[in-house]
Amino acid sequence: MKKVDDYRFRLGKQELVPIMTGGMGVDISTAELALVAARLGGIGHISDAMVPTVSDRRFKTGFVKEKQKKYKYNVANRDKSDVHFNLERLAEATRLHVGRTMEAKQGDGLIFINTMEKLTMNSPRDTLRVRLSAAMDAGIDGITLSAGLHLGSLALVADHPRFRDVKFGIIVSSLRALQLFLRKNARLDRLPDYIIVEGPLAGGHLGFGMDWAQYDLKTIVDEILRHLKQEGLNIPIIPAGGIFTGTDAVAFLDAGAAAVQVATRFTVTKECGLPDKVKQEYFKAREEDVEVNLLSPTGYPMRMLKRSPGIGSGIRPNCEAYGYLLDGSGNCSYIEAYNRELERHPDADTLSVKDKMCLCTHMRNFDCWTCGHYVYRLKDTTRRLPDGSYELLTAEHVFNDYLYSTEHRIVLPVA
Ligand SMILES: Cc1cc2nc3c(=O)[nH]c(=O)nc-3n(C[C@H](O)[C@H](O)[C@H](O)COP(=O)(O)O)c2cc1C
Repeated sequence: MKKVDDYRFRLGKQELVPIMTGGMGVDISTAELALVAARLGGIGHISDAMVPTVSDRRFKTGFVKEKQKKYKYNVANRDKSDVHFNLERLAEATRLHVGRTMEAKQGDGLIFINTMEKLTMNSPRDTLRVRLSAAMDAGIDGITLSAGLHLGSLALVADHPRFRDVKFGIIVSSLRALQLFLRKNARLDRLPDYIIVEGPLAGGHLGFGMDWAQYDLKTIVDEILRHLKQEGLNIPIIPAGGIFTGTDAVAFLDAGAAAVQVATRFTVTKECGLPDKVKQEYFKAREEDVEVNLLSPTGYPMRMLKRSPGIGSGIRPNCEAYGYLLDGSGNCSYIEAYNRELERHPDADTLSVKDKMCLCTHMRNFDCWTCGHYVYRLKDTTRRLPDGSYELLTAEHVFNDYLYSTEHRIVLPVA
């Protein structure tokens, strides 16, 4: 019976365990979680989503307060176009988060950072360039470009001294998206070093429309593998989304994938950044508690638990402190939704905004419980404690379960 440990992932000169933990913002895939994956020979992702906030929490810096203070005068203003990130501060926060993580790395694995391009931060190109180059300065092993792939992102850092040394990967959900990216980047003579193919059962934002249920990961992966073969391109393919057991992973590795990216099973580990109370919500979830909705201001469908406290909240937009989803003109669809509600109920003490969510605030506060489709199977991966709660797992336990399990068996933690 084959297991994941029978395979190895060749990435350049390196030979790795073919398991990658996915980047889960905002600091759900913590440095601690990524470091375990790297220590065990795989690849661990941290995320650069809202990195000044993450740095404040991790290192007691004051980046968010500083920005909030600077733009305090604008809080009641509907027009947020004035609110900009200080690029030097953004670089500092990124260098701290990445640098400290890299210093702590042990073992033969790698640490990558997930960089969501949909975090347009009221100046998409400048802020993205700073985030990418600061992560490279601070020694990151690899960068995964995700969520709203801009076709020109690699060109932004083409003159960085580590441009050919850092591994670059992209996340796509279709062959078409991949072809567009490859075409656009052809003149850089810099192909991606790996391609994560994310299917419709993943957590976070989906690269599909609301017809996501009509797609399946295996079909997309097979199509992309065939295409790369035809084109004579030797780029490792890494499927993601709904790979719940080692046996699921083996099926992809057997079919030609180089590794797998997994996330949901790690949301209930001690090292995961979600508060323990929220981890219990993930354990308790039933299939009917999960939905894919259009509440994210990015416009992409997102999967989450229906009980997420952020759903229906009418909190005032917090762009002076955060503002990660402001587009290049200072707009965000939550601001529009909020102002519309405010006009309807000018005297209300609290508002409820039903069609959009202030994603910055609610991700920051762990009130948007995004999850993969199979979140409802997490309860089968642990033991129930006498008080009725579920025992948290260690990231090492989950990693090894992927590595050694056969016949879809999941090993429970030892009593
Ligand atoms: C809680 C959570 C947060 C996530 N956040 C992000 C993110 O910030 N950026 C991203 O590209 N993918 C994100 N994802 C997607 C994962 O990185 C991964 O590709 C996917 O969830 C894998 O499927 P699985 O969860 O079924 O294993 C997130 C997933 C989860 C479960």
